[in-house]
Amino acid sequence: MTARVALRGDLLDFTAEPAWGDIDSAAVRFRPGQWLLIEAGRIVAVQADAPDASWTRHDHVGRLILPGFVDTHVHSPQLDVIASYGTELLDWLNNYTFPAEKRYADPQQAETGAALFLDALLARGTTSAVVFPTVHKVSADRLFAAAQQRDMRLIAGKVLMDRHAPDGLRDDVEQAERDCRDLIARWHGTDRLAYAVTVRFAPTSTPEQLAMAGRLCQADPSLYMQTHVAENRDEVRWVRDLFPEARSYLDVYARAGLLHRRSVLAHGIWLDADDRAALHESGAQIAHSPSSNLFLGSGLFDWRAAEAANAAVSLASDVGGGTDLSMLATMRDAYKVQAMAGQRLTAWKALHAATRGSALALGLGDEIGSFEPGRLADVCVWDWASEPVAARRMELARGLHEKVFAWMILGDRTNLVSTRVAGVERYRRPENGVP
Ligand code: GUN
Ligand code: ZN
Repeated sequence: MTARVALRGDLLDFTAEPAWGDIDSAAVRFRPGQWLLIEAGRIVAVQADAPDASWTRHDHVGRLILPGFVDTHVHSPQLDVIASYGTELLDWLNNYTFPAEKRYADPQQAETGAALFLDALLARGTTSAVVFPTVHKVSADRLFAAAQQRDMRLIAGKVLMDRHAPDGLRDDVEQAERDCRDLIARWHGTDRLAYAVTVRFAPTSTPEQLAMAGRLCQADPSLYMQTHVAENRDEVRWVRDLFPEARSYLDVYARAGLLHRRSVLAHGIWLDADDRAALHESGAQIAHSPSSNLFLGSGLFDWRAAEAANAAVSLASDVGGGTDLSMLATMRDAYKVQAMAGQRLTAWKALHAATRGSALALGLGDEIGSFEPGRLADVCVWDWASEPVAARRMELARGLHEKVFAWMILGDRTNLVSTRVAGVERYRRPENGVP
């Protein structure tokens, strides 16, 4: 018999994209106290009445139920350098990150690191992610294998870097292409996994390597591409010196054939109007990483300008530049970044960008991001409050937006009760309430 599971709680998802600043958005679908029916790993219905005894029922009445979060940019090996003091991007890479990533040449480290990383995502309500491992083929291989074991939706690829990186962290064009082709053959389209051609950033790839990456993308449009763009001012100057023929940093990627509808570009702080138009025309998305941008002092992303240009924006933790794998922490940092620029980010805009919006931007709207029947049941159950101060604030909240906004600002991983991936529970908060 196929497994039938039903969850009751306050179901919240989106049927459209909420407009900027719209607190009473018709795009929000809130169904309090309803049953979410899951059969053979997929959502099949939402109903007010309890289903019959052929369903295993979990009554979470009074709790919030959301689609699993999507983190569109995060580095699995960088748990080892999260919270490193005192540097901006380029020194941070050289002093902390590159030395740590060398460890992932070791298959054992690659395997234990991948397990720690994915379990940490699940314990924070993230069920899908776009991930950088390291330059080592084995680091990508073990990450895919660990995601497959957990049935997670994961997009990743071996990092490409053939210059401006230390010994032990560089590949070359021929070897890198062979590694990519092997990994693509093994993992792209296997279960819930997809391959991303992974250019670390323009400074660490030769023009020949960028061209090779572009050829891979052109040969198979179902491949993703992930990289960093226009994060830090010294980095932008460096790219200008290295690629004088390009109009802009983003244009380096466009010229190499790396800008397309499956491209995920982290940061995009220092872009201009032409760059935003190019993002819109290509269908590429910016993975906005507010925690990282604050921590590394990179700058304030202009979400409104991206929105006005119709460029897709998703949300990302960018750990270890970011300081928290939690998408709740990411959303509240996104709110603060916009506040610094005199803008107001609604809870709807933030939540949408972490669920349905990122799913759509990745071309995965039919699989994840909402409670539409037919979607895979990547579902999280949350307490509205996990301690007295938040509980008091919830009592006083007037209206749904105020309540969800307070949850987003005050909540953390201790609010998370249960995470299901394709219907199967992969995380449950321990009985004593301490994760
Ligand atoms: N640019 C190139 N590599 C990295 C990285 O690992 N993290 C961040 N935040 N930016 C980068
Ligand atoms: Zn990054």
